[in-house]
Amino acid sequence: MDAILEQNPYLDGEPFAPVTEEATLGETALRIEGTLPRDFGGLYVRNGPNAQFRPEGRYHWFDGDGMLHAIRFADGHATYRNRWVTTSAFAEERAAGRPIWRGIRESANRERREQPFKDTSNTDVKFHNGSLITTWYLCGVPYRVDPLTLATLGPDDFGGKLKTRVSAHIKVDETNWDLMFFDYGIRKPYMTYGVVGADGVLKHHVPIDLPGPRLPHDMSITENYSILMDLPVFQDMDAARAGRWKTDWHADMPARFGILPRYGDTKDVRWFEAESCYIYHSTNAWEEGTGDDKTIVMEAFKFERPFADYPDGATEFDRMLHNHRINAHLQRYRFHLKSGKTTEEPVTRDIGEFGMINTRMNGRKTRYVYGNGFDYDEMPVRFKSLMRWDTEARTTESFEFAPAFNASEPQFCARDGATAEDDGYVVTFLHNSDTRQGECWLFDARAIAAGPLAKVHIPQRLPAGFHGIWVPQEYLK
Ligand SMILES: [Fe+2]
Repeated sequence: MDAILEQNPYLDGEPFAPVTEEATLGETALRIEGTLPRDFGGLYVRNGPNAQFRPEGRYHWFDGDGMLHAIRFADGHATYRNRWVTTSAFAEERAAGRPIWRGIRESANRERREQPFKDTSNTDVKFHNGSLITTWYLCGVPYRVDPLTLATLGPDDFGGKLKTRVSAHIKVDETNWDLMFFDYGIRKPYMTYGVVGADGVLKHHVPIDLPGPRLPHDMSITENYSILMDLPVFQDMDAARAGRWKTDWHADMPARFGILPRYGDTKDVRWFEAESCYIYHSTNAWEEGTGDDKTIVMEAFKFERPFADYPDGATEFDRMLHNHRINAHLQRYRFHLKSGKTTEEPVTRDIGEFGMINTRMNGRKTRYVYGNGFDYDEMPVRFKSLMRWDTEARTTESFEFAPAFNASEPQFCARDGATAEDDGYVVTFLHNSDTRQGECWLFDARAIAAGPLAKVHIPQRLPAGFHGIWVPQEYLK
């Protein structure tokens, strides 16, 4: 075996190595430290890569098959489950008993034109129309998953009407359950945008004009508008034609944000320019002002320098590790609809990413963002702290985890009967590399720095992962 493969921290060792078991653990197996509050209930679920088989060829962290980890909280009790998302590719490889696809550091599978890279559905998970939906960052088939059993229900074609794929970051408006999504690719149209109704049926889908293939990762919504991204980091098309994955940052090109009414058409998109950068994730957006003063405000984590400086002699493997370092900060963009002008400013200079809000307020003005802090110099990347950013007061509260811990994107869970935006709890999964076990910590959302109120100890590994969601009890009924 290749020596590089044997040293790949995303395959071997802590906190990334995949787990091989699917478990259902009740209170006799879980150890709960502290007391779980009785005034909240629901499901915390997080997606992430978890290779079913030892990959052939060079492995990238983003290649692993999707696996969901979840804790159901109810009446002061907790139940943990982890399950793979059984995509069509997962099922095919399982039946074959071996990997069929290689990862993005290797060549595309030319025999699978419909799926040259394996659609793992490993990136995000959202709740809509009674079930979870898992998605993939390179645009894939959305999969429906039962929120209580975590059993994969199957691919979702949005009522038989979806003719494209769907990117990882869909946005759900919890006031009317519209689901907004986009899709991107290397063939025209390079982007599409759609809206799915509360009944799960696609009701609006339009092409978006872009000057060429792009690699947007997220979008944002307000009550009446959607915001799409054309960022100056995209694939090298010569490499793509040769079946290789290579991306470049074009520092001389601006970032562009396309704003259209939620049910707008291709011609309704208005593009706003901003400083060159890359953005993985937006935390929220909303509308301010009326008439000629109407402004769309968007908050997102801005990478001012999307690629790291590599040390002399850096191998392709070193470059991957360097590229996963996080040096972003939360930035506020203001897009003035009448003048077409953009202004932007940092909300904070803290290094952070994976920010979440009280999702009931998605598209409405929010004040608080909960996210992760990172040390840019630490490799491989580690989710090292829990952050709470007050975007009005411009203050930060944080809790630093011990070096053995790798946390996850936190979720805000409203307290029963809560009326204030931040009245509730914050949950996060962690992996403890010393004990080689998973944990789930619960914080008071208004007292992050005070440390956790309760910890659920999970007697198996819980590898580092990507995105999650909190589904309140009332949505599960
Ligand atoms: Fe993401």
